[in-house]
Amino acid sequence: MNKITSCKAKEIKDSRGNPTIEVEIGSEDVFMSASVPSGASAGSREALEKRDEDGKGVQTAIKNVNEIIGPAIMGLDVEPLNIDELLLELDGTENKSNLGANAILGVSIATTKLKAKLENKPLWQYINEISGVRVEPSQPNLFMNVLNGGVHAKFRLPFQEYIVISGGETVKESYGKSLVFLKKLGEAIKEKYGKVEMGDEGGFSPEMKTIEEPFELLSNLMDSDMVIANDVAASELYKDGVYSVLGEEYSSGQFLNIYKNLVENFPIGSIEDPFDESDLPSFENITREVKNWDAKALRKGIMEDVLIVGDDLTTTNTESILDSTRNKRANAVIIKPNQIGTLSEVYKAVKLARGAGWKIICSHRSGETMDTFIADLAVGVGAYGLKAGSPSQEVRRVKYERLLEIEKEMEK
Ligand code: PGA
Ligand code: ZN
Repeated sequence: MNKITSCKAKEIKDSRGNPTIEVEIGSEDVFMSASVPSGASAGSREALEKRDEDGKGVQTAIKNVNEIIGPAIMGLDVEPLNIDELLLELDGTENKSNLGANAILGVSIATTKLKAKLENKPLWQYINEISGVRVEPSQPNLFMNVLNGGVHAKFRLPFQEYIVISGGETVKESYGKSLVFLKKLGEAIKEKYGKVEMGDEGGFSPEMKTIEEPFELLSNLMDSDMVIANDVAASELYKDGVYSVLGEEYSSGQFLNIYKNLVENFPIGSIEDPFDESDLPSFENITREVKNWDAKALRKGIMEDVLIVGDDLTTTNTESILDSTRNKRANAVIIKPNQIGTLSEVYKAVKLARGAGWKIICSHRSGETMDTFIADLAVGVGAYGLKAGSPSQEVRRVKYERLLEIEKEMEK
């Protein structure tokens, strides 16, 4: 059995230029590393990302890997699930506030990559086996960010993310279609809005004046086999019981009506965090109501349901997911490893949500790195979607390109 013989962390920069952590784990002369992304519109129940006293640095997290976790795992078998268990014990808190979810996740992912490498298996295949998901590995739909607002772009657009999903038999085909769409969109935006800024996830970020405007722009350019997905990230719009968008205030009931009109008039196939993470009755209402709406996306025949997706609502946390599946607050879930900290917990979250009939969407964070792990994760757990931003940024493009590579590996 291969033993862990080295474990080192260092600082790298994420796509916003902020410090984050990279961990390298070795067994003799085989080394694998993992780096950890960072969110900006984070849910309040996410595991704690350890930052130094200045609120930015990651030296404490690095020290925790080099001086606490490293010595504890040295000489142990490269067995990711056992290592995860030890990490949870070492930390000993509910939200990983002792060692930091960033420190813990770096070790959890690097160990998993190392084991896959030692077993000479593609990472997605190893994940499929070890996660116990009991579904075949499969390629996800590409949730590609094209317009970016919210906290990622100084609220220039009403919602945080406008995403397109293109149909296609293969990833290569849908990726190709999405790229063509992106080019068309860029030209249309240039003509109508001039030179515009970009958001943190690489989507165009023109300033828009109405809730309908982005949907009009997108749907006019879309082919018949494309749908729009949104991440409203409504927790960022909510204060004192009302939702503020473009200077107007809306009650939960009014906001629900806005969604109904949008879903009936535009090809919207998926809405993430449509309400604040504490506005639970509204999640229950929309999940029930959406089935009765005359959804334009469903008329295209490429989706069976309009997805109501939990992210801040569920934070990849098994207890939150269980609570939300029991109360039917969504029908799909975002899976972000750094919301919870270990891959063992990620696998549990996936199994729990899928057991309730929910769709799984694996996701990047707004502050990303060149690590392509989430692409392998999405394929390994047979996720419905991979949300990886706009390929205009290299840190996002490499995730899509990893899927293309996996497509070839799967043919072997
Ligand atoms: P975040 O945004 O990474 O800034 O949290 C992504 C999301 O809300 O899904
Ligand atoms: Zn989100």
